[in-house]
Amino acid sequence: MNQDDDKRAAAEAAVAEVRDGMRVGLGTGSTVRFAIEALGRRVGDGLRVEAVATSLDSARRAAALGIAVRDFATVARVDLTIDGADEIDARLWAIKGAGGAMLREKIVAAASTRMVVIADASKRVEAIGAAKLPVEVLPFARAFVTARLEALGAAVVARDGVTDNGNLVLDARFAAFPAARGLATTLDSTPGVLGHGLFLSEVNAAYIAADGIVTRLERGEASG
Ligand code: A5P
Repeated sequence: MNQDDDKRAAAEAAVAEVRDGMRVGLGTGSTVRFAIEALGRRVGDGLRVEAVATSLDSARRAAALGIAVRDFATVARVDLTIDGADEIDARLWAIKGAGGAMLREKIVAAASTRMVVIADASKRVEAIGAAKLPVEVLPFARAFVTARLEALGAAVVARDGVTDNGNLVLDARFAAFPAARGLATTLDSTPGVLGHGLFLSEVNAAYIAADGIVTRLERGEASG
């Protein structure tokens, strides 16, 4: 089994949760692409769902496969969201946003009754914090937020380009990762920070595939 086989296996396990009539949130990234393909096949077989997407890329891919995609701006509740992660640990704490979609991903996750992460085993870690932490920033606040992140101990690299929302992404890498809850609170209360990739409470479950074997972790059942 290669990594793509595991991504596909995790994605298909999560898509098996989708029921007729659901409104489904589609995350972003290479693992989610397999989920969109699997959902597209089920829709082709007659499943009736409506989707919302966390990125223009996912919206395009889903629509191309015949999945009805609704503008999230008109939607307040989502039944089930399926999304990837850059790191996930046994507490179901995750770092997301390598693809730059973490702001929309967090909004859609917050609107969701259930949010499941899909990943190959390379994303499973003892404790999150080694991955770069993406922070979406209003362009006006770029220097200010960079200085705040550096004061927290991060080496900061600004990405080229802008997000789907027209904002900047600063990647913060910490030599020693701060206490995650405190860091999230600090970022949430920093003017100019619009979003970040720390997902500490949003993930209800994760499907992690290793060598073709998919393991489901449920919040509350997970250790740690
Ligand atoms: C997108 O911004 C991210 O949050 C992705 O969900 C995450 O980076 C996982 O992507 P891959 O499935 O491509 O690794």
